[in-house]
Amino acid sequence: MSTTPVHMNSPQHIRAEVVSSCQIADGLHLLHVHAPTIATTASPGQFAMLQCAGGAFLRRPLSIHRVSNDKTKISFLFAALGKGTQWIAQTKAGDKIDVLGPMGNGFELLPSSREILLLAGGLGIAPLVFLAEQALEHGMRVSLAYGTATNQRCGIQLLPQGLHLIEFTDDGSYGKHGLVTECIPDFSDCTDQIFACGPLPMYRALSQQSSIKEHNVQVSLETRMACGLGVCYGCTINTTSGLKQVCHHGPVFNMSDIVWSEMAAI
Ligand code: FES
Repeated sequence: MSTTPVHMNSPQHIRAEVVSSCQIADGLHLLHVHAPTIATTASPGQFAMLQCAGGAFLRRPLSIHRVSNDKTKISFLFAALGKGTQWIAQTKAGDKIDVLGPMGNGFELLPSSREILLLAGGLGIAPLVFLAEQALEHGMRVSLAYGTATNQRCGIQLLPQGLHLIEFTDDGSYGKHGLVTECIPDFSDCTDQIFACGPLPMYRALSQQSSIKEHNVQVSLETRMACGLGVCYGCTINTTSGLKQVCHHGPVFNMSDIVWSEMAAI
């Protein structure tokens, strides 16, 4: 079974007011901005481009982490590692920030799905929280396998109530020792769809799992982006139907559409 994620609404270009901006763990930041025009049209898996330092740097693509219940605010969960994201992280409530979004193609939940499995590697948890909330609202059973390098458990306090959480660490310091993909055999009989966001090694392990061949598996790719608009071709990947731009055709793709042997080039 396969679906093609559908292209969403045109992005809005706004000056958004920062509602709150805080560090929730070492290097991990949570930003809330007032952005009703984006919040009302955003779907899980889509992203926004945020301008940094008054335009001194390229816009930074950040996954939309959550939309507030009243659909007036959106939030971003990100690692403040480079100059651009560090600039975003130092914003304060009341500041204005230039936001373009929602952008790209998000995850597609099939209305017929009753049970879904989410696979998050590290910061890949950011867009999956939005998806989990939407699936729970639709009455679906949601399991989340969340893997981190060590016992960081970053963002765990942000998860919605009602999901089944299975935690993994690379070093075994918390939860199960190993990769999130190791839980797939436990779910292969009962899961209708699988959604994943994480690093490339996680996707490679996922694509080699024989027990998920019959499932609808969607993955969100994290690549470097310059324009974010499908113009510069800097985020081009090879798929079974030709070259595609992650920012324009993705970032969510059906796993079976991607030529994984060529993904190391990104
Ligand atoms: Fe320019 Fe995707 S970032 S085409």
